[in-house]
Amino acid sequence: MFDSGVGGLTVLAELRKLMPKAPVIYAADIAGLPYGAKSEAEVAARVAGLLGRMAERYDPRLICIACNTASTIALGMVREVLETPIVGTVPAIKPAAKVTKTGVIGLLGTEATVRQGYVDDLAREFADGKTLLRHGSNQLVALGEKKLRGETVSVDEVAKAASGLILQPGGENLDTVVLACTHFPLLEPELREAFGKDVAFIHGAAGIARRIAHLLEGQSFGFFARSFAVTTGEIDDFKRLSGAFERHGITRLRKF
Ligand code: DGL
Repeated sequence: MFDSGVGGLTVLAELRKLMPKAPVIYAADIAGLPYGAKSEAEVAARVAGLLGRMAERYDPRLICIACNTASTIALGMVREVLETPIVGTVPAIKPAAKVTKTGVIGLLGTEATVRQGYVDDLAREFADGKTLLRHGSNQLVALGEKKLRGETVSVDEVAKAASGLILQPGGENLDTVVLACTHFPLLEPELREAFGKDVAFIHGAAGIARRIAHLLEGQSFGFFARSFAVTTGEIDDFKRLSGAFERHGITRLRKF
């Protein structure tokens, strides 16, 4: 399960409901965080290089890129170079288009994700005739990381970072928001308070978990295979996340 930081835990949480005992290696590229502030070329090179090294070292049966930024930029490229099956994470525009009543959908992602052609393609294919308002916020990623390290995150900070979505023409009619970054569901309570009860939030974590479980169906895992997490960043900082990892059955944290 690969992400730039703790965002992938929102996917792991859903996967645990379906496969509570599966051995998972959670890989956080914290030395490269935030991906949302990087160029396409930087993200592609970093993700392809790291996943190549990780796949060689750990030989996983399946890789989940639990990061919208990395998936929308590099999924095709990584699939071409690795033989391991790869499940990506892409903005849940299709389900959002089905539930919106006003026809105005908000897309909240990182700065890099919201400008991707991949998003244009999804909008064209699944949200034809609807309005898709986009807002990229790398600050929300930082707030998600902060929250999981046990620091206080206020509704005001979250509201300010997300406000660009609603403060654009048409924003007052928005009724559905796609959380197109795996970090953002970590802030769902704060986002709900900020946007009010008439706005619905949608993300793809449960669907991604179903896809992984489906691809691994019928496979058994070694009795001694255990989950662990690795970081490309500082191990002391990573250990501040031990409570968050423990909640998902991971007690061993290491440096990659
Ligand atoms: N969690 C990542 C995503 O889903 C982004 C975090 C980052 O900017 O590094 O897009």
